Amino acid sequence: MALKLSPLTFQHQKIPSFALPPASNLRSPRVFMASTLSSSSNQLLCYVLFSVWFTHSNGILRVLSFQFRLLNLREVENIKRPFSPPREVHVQVTHSMPPQKIEIFKSMEGWAEKNILVHLKPVEKCWQPQDFLPDPASEGFFEQVKELRERSMEIPDEYFVVLVGDMITEEALPTYQTMLNTLDGVRDETGASPTSWAVWTRAWTAEENRHGDLLNKYLYLSGRVDMRQIEKSIQYLIGSGMDPRTENSPYLGFIYTSFQERATFISHGNTARHAKDYGDLKLAQICGTIAADEKRHETAYTKITEKLFEIDPDGTVLAFADMMRKKISMPAHLMYDGRDDNLFEHFSAIAQRLGVYTAKDYADILEFLVGRWNVEKLTGLSGEGRKAQDYVCGLAPRIRRLDERAQGRAKQAPTIPFSWIFDREVKL
Ligand SMILES: [Fe+2]
Ligand SMILES: [Fe+2]
Repeated sequence: MALKLSPLTFQHQKIPSFALPPASNLRSPRVFMASTLSSSSNQLLCYVLFSVWFTHSNGILRVLSFQFRLLNLREVENIKRPFSPPREVHVQVTHSMPPQKIEIFKSMEGWAEKNILVHLKPVEKCWQPQDFLPDPASEGFFEQVKELRERSMEIPDEYFVVLVGDMITEEALPTYQTMLNTLDGVRDETGASPTSWAVWTRAWTAEENRHGDLLNKYLYLSGRVDMRQIEKSIQYLIGSGMDPRTENSPYLGFIYTSFQERATFISHGNTARHAKDYGDLKLAQICGTIAADEKRHETAYTKITEKLFEIDPDGTVLAFADMMRKKISMPAHLMYDGRDDNLFEHFSAIAQRLGVYTAKDYADILEFLVGRWNVEKLTGLSGEGRKAQDYVCGLAPRIRRLDERAQGRAKQAPTIPFSWIFDREVKL
C-alpha cells in the first residue's frame, strides 16, 4: 500500500471524535504489522528517506508535521474498522445444504417435539443464579459477600483467567442464538415461531442465559477481577461474532453444537473440580450446576445428529468429516480485550496447562461422538461416505499423536499480563 499522507490525514479528520479510542487502547503494532505489512514497511522507508531529507533541511516544524502525519496513519489503520473481528475470518460459504434436504427437517418436527423438547427443563423447575449468590434483600448480605470474597482469596490468578474466559464465552450468547438461526430449515422464522426447532432454540438460549449471568455475578462479588476490562471483552466478542463455518446447514450446525455442548460440559466440570481443590465449595457447586445443564444440552444435540445418521447416513457422515477437517473452532475464538491480539490463544494456553480444556479433551470428544453415533458400523455408504467414515474414525488417535509431539517440543512458557486480572502476570 502506498503511503498517502494527505488523503489519510483527511480521512482522520473526517472521523468523529467519539469514534477515537484512547491511544493506549489501539491494537498492538505486532498484529497491525502482520495484517498490513506493506504499510509498515512503507513507514520505515519513509522514516529513512525523511532522515536524509531532515539532515539537509534542518526544519524542526517539518519534523513535527511529518511525525504527526505518521501517527495519524497508524491511528487510521487501527480504527478504520472498529467493529471488525480481531483477526480475519474464513471466506464464508453459505447455504451449502441442497434445498430439498430442508424437507428432512420439516418432517422431523413431530419427532423433535417428542424427543428433543423433553430435554428442556420447565422454568419453574430450573435453578436461577440467585440460588447460588448472596441475597441482596437479606440482612446477612454483607456477611455472605465477605465470606464469598474470603473463599476466593484462596484461588490463584491463573484459575481466574480461565473462569473469566469461560464466563465471557457464556456471555456472548446473542451470537450463539444468531448462529442457530442461520440454519436452513430449523431457524426461528419470526422470533416467536411455534415450530419445535424454534421453541428449542429460544428455550435453550433462555437456559444458557443463566450461565453467564451466574458466573458474571460471582466474579463481580469476588473482587478479584477487573470487571471493566471483562465487560469490554464481552462487548468486543459479541460485536465480532463467531466463525463456526456451518454454512447455514443444520447437519453441520448440529454436529458443531453436539461437540460444543460436550466441550463446555467438560470445561465447567473441570473448573468445578479445581474450585473444590481450592476449598471453594460454593464455586464448585456453581460450575458443577452449569456443567449439568451442558450435559443435558449435549444429550439433545447428539440425539438430533443420531437421528440424522438414521435418516441420511451418507449426508451426515460427510458433514461430520467436513466439520472435523475444518476443525471445531471454539465459540469465543474471536475474543479481544482492546489490548491483547492473541487473547484467545493465551486464555486457551492456560486452560490447557491447568487441564480445564485440553487438546486431549478435543480428541476424546471426537472419539466419544464417533462411538455415540456408531460411525464405525455405518453401512451402505457411497464411496465419498466411506472415505469420510475412515477419516473421522482414524482422526482421534492422530490428534493425540500430534499433541504428544507438540508437548515434547514445547518451549519454556512465557509469563504474560492479563487485563482481566489488573495486568497481573500469569505463566502460559
Ligand atoms: Fe453454557
Ligand atoms: Fe450449553
